Order: sequence, then structure tokens, then C-alpha cells
Amino acid sequence: MKIAIIGAGNMGSATARGIAQGTFVPASNICISNPSMGKLEALRAEFSDIRTTQDNRECVKDADLVILAVKPWKILDVINEIKDTLDYSRTAVASMAAGISAQCISEHLEQKGQAALPPVYTIIPNTAIAIRQSMTFIAGLRRTDSWDQNLLRLFKETGDAMLVEERLMGACMALASCGIAYAMRYIRAATEGGVELGLYAKDAQHIVMQTLKGAVGLLEENQTHPEAEIDKVTTPGGITIRGLNAMEKNGFTNSVIEGLKASK
Ligand SMILES: NC(=O)c1ccc[n+]([C@@H]2O[C@H](COP(=O)([O-])OP(=O)(O)OC[C@H]3O[C@@H](n4cnc5c(N)ncnc54)[C@H](OP(=O)(O)O)[C@@H]3O)[C@@H](O)[C@H]2O)c1
Repeated sequence: MKIAIIGAGNMGSATARGIAQGTFVPASNICISNPSMGKLEALRAEFSDIRTTQDNRECVKDADLVILAVKPWKILDVINEIKDTLDYSRTAVASMAAGISAQCISEHLEQKGQAALPPVYTIIPNTAIAIRQSMTFIAGLRRTDSWDQNLLRLFKETGDAMLVEERLMGACMALASCGIAYAMRYIRAATEGGVELGLYAKDAQHIVMQTLKGAVGLLEENQTHPEAEIDKVTTPGGITIRGLNAMEKNGFTNSVIEGLKASK
């Protein structure tokens, strides 16, 4: 499979890096375009086999999959620029632009002389794609089983990925895209609590981060519900249940749920 990525910013470059480091598609099958050279040169310095160009049309020529990784307000201009170069009978189009639906992309792909429109996907990673730890969501229009599986494999190379219905994208973004900020805020809050308890901030943050890794590891290893793991650390009359109840009294669970609902 040949992949063209339009835009070599945070998302486009991280996607190219993730795929190039994976096993599904060789780096030589990736072409990435960007108007300025700096980001392209940085990518080539890491992966000499990745092809780079400043010409979007050149980039998509021969591509089986075109990934649009430009800012949302540039997406439609880019589509207008490249659509005559695409062969819809073999090429799928995927957009990373937040807030632009597959339906909108599809309408702008309409062109003379091409009877059928291609599969159109929306792909939403989070910022952890930069370290290949993204939680990426994939939705689409005119999806095919084969493109679903290809995209899942591709974006699992950049962390984890799941197929969702487009109507659930907002909820998924609240949990995973905004969720990065919410997780950071918990880490900051716990670190500040640790400082108040007498620890240096650097040590407190290290302890909180390792504790979170441990909590995630327990859930993954044991395949349990969080409450089952909580039960293991809450001795009757002990300090953990007192801490949990004090947090709940101050609205912990409700704050998280209300925050997620507000960001959908
Ligand atoms: N950042 C996130 O957390 C996140 C998460 C999910 C989805 N997204 C979506 O991903 C998309 C890209 O976001 P980003 O954070 O990667 O933005 P970014 O870092 O600003 O990257 C956009 C890139 O597009 C290039 N570009 C501008 N005009 C172009 C054109 N006409 N043709 C080709 N390339 C062009 C820019 O080049 P120059 O800098 O040289 O102008 C820049 O390198 C956005 O639509 C965003 O909504 C972002």
C-alpha cells in the first residue's frame, strides 16, 4: 500500500514516523508533502526512505491512501487542489481535521467524470501519537472491511486504534483527546497534594506517574474493573477508604463526569 500524507506538522509527521517504524507499510511507500522544507528535512534525516515533496499533487499521485493532516480551515482548499489527481476507484481519503465530518469531505471530493466517490474516513489521534502512544479513533463513510482493517493496522502502529461510529466521535474525543489534559490535571493535583504532605515536587510527580502506570498495568494484566482493584487496597477502617471518601465528598467522580460531558 502506498500512503500520501498532506501536511508534515505535529499529526502528519507523527503519523509518518509511527508507520515508518512499524511493520505494515515500508517507509519507502510513504510520501509526505508540506509547503516549507524544515519539517520534511527533519523527517528525511530520521527516515531516509520516506519520500518528501512540497507539491501536494505530486504526493498523492499513485497513492492508495491519502491522509489529510492540515489544519481544518485548509482541508477544503487541499481537497480542491488534489482531487483531479486522485483515482477514486483505488484511493481512499482520510482526514485528521477535528470537527470536519466525513460527509463534508465527501461532498468536496465530488468531481466531473468520476461516477463513484471513494471511501472517506475521519481519523482522530491524540497528542501521544508523537510517542506512538495515541488512542486513535476511526470513523467513515462508504467504509469497506478491507479499508477498516488497513487503517486499524496502520494506526495501531502509532499506539492503539479503534473503529467507532461517527456519532460517537465527540464522546471519544472527550475521553482521549481532552482526556490527555484531564489526566495531566490529575497528575498535577496529586503532585501538589504530595508537596503539601512534605515531598519535593519532582519526587511527588515521579511517584504519581509510576503509580498511574502501575494502576493501568494492573487493569491490563488482571482484566479487572477498577473497583475490584480498589477493593484490594481498602482495608476496613483504613486510610485508603478514608482518602477515597474525602475525595468523593469533594465531588471527585461527579467532577470528572461533568467535565467530560462539558467537553463533548
Ligand atoms: N494536535 C492535535 O492534538 C490533533 C488531534 C487530532 C486531530 N488534529 C488535527 O490534525 C490536523 C493537523 O494538526 P497539527 O496539530 O498537526 O497542525 P500543524 O502542526 O500546524 O500541521 C499542519 C501542517 O500543514 C502544513 N500545511 C499548511 N498548508 C498546507 C497545504 N496547503 N498543503 C500541505 N500542507 C500544508 C503546515 O505547514 P507550514 O507549517 O509549513 O505552514 C503544517 O506543517 C488538524 O486538522 C487538527 O484538527 C490535531
